Amino acid sequence: MDAREMKIKAAEAALQHVENGMRLGIGTGSTAEEFVRLLAEKVAAGLKVEGVPTSERTARLCLELGVPLKSLDELPELDLTIDGADEVDAALRLVKGGGGALLREKIVASASSRMIVIADETKVVETLGKFPLPIEVNPFGLTTTRIAIEKLASRLGLSGEIKLRKSGDGPFTTDGGHYIFDAFFGRIPDAEALAIQLNSIPGVVEHGLFINMASFAIIAGPAGARTLQA
Ligand code: A5P
Repeated sequence: MDAREMKIKAAEAALQHVENGMRLGIGTGSTAEEFVRLLAEKVAAGLKVEGVPTSERTARLCLELGVPLKSLDELPELDLTIDGADEVDAALRLVKGGGGALLREKIVASASSRMIVIADETKVVETLGKFPLPIEVNPFGLTTTRIAIEKLASRLGLSGEIKLRKSGDGPFTTDGGHYIFDAFFGRIPDAEALAIQLNSIPGVVEHGLFINMASFAIIAGPAGARTLQA
């Protein structure tokens, strides 16, 4: 089974949890896109759902495939969010934001009664941090914010480069008009402490540590999909 087939397996298993009439948060990334494709087939066959997309990219795909969309202000409380992840550990702590959509992803997930993560086996890790941690920041005072993040990291015993994400010649800009620092920490032994303290830096808009948000994860490997519970 290749990587795409595994993503499809996870998305298929997640679709089993979608019921008629649900208000759905719809994630971003290649795995979430497989879910959107399968969801669109069900919608074409008569399933009634309303989705809130976590990015402009996901919104475009949903519109193209006929998945009905609402804004989060129209549907401020959701039944279920289905989204991918860059890393997931045994306690269902996640790193997200590889696709740059972490802020909307976190707002949408927090508006949902349940969040199901869909991923392939390569995303499961013992300790978070191998994947660089995305930190969404306000463009104002970029250097001040970078220094504050570096000082925090060093207080927590973390080291590694913090790189401004690029797109072409300029900085990558999120749907909210912010920039992203990717922090190459390698290992994050105390993700809770880092998560709380990052949020206390004024220039940090949000970070890609999702803690106590996922209800469970559906992990697909060559032998099929399994459920990961905390
Ligand atoms: C988007 O910002 C991310 O949080 C994605 O959910 C994450 O990067 C997983 O993407 P893939 O499914 O493409 O690996």
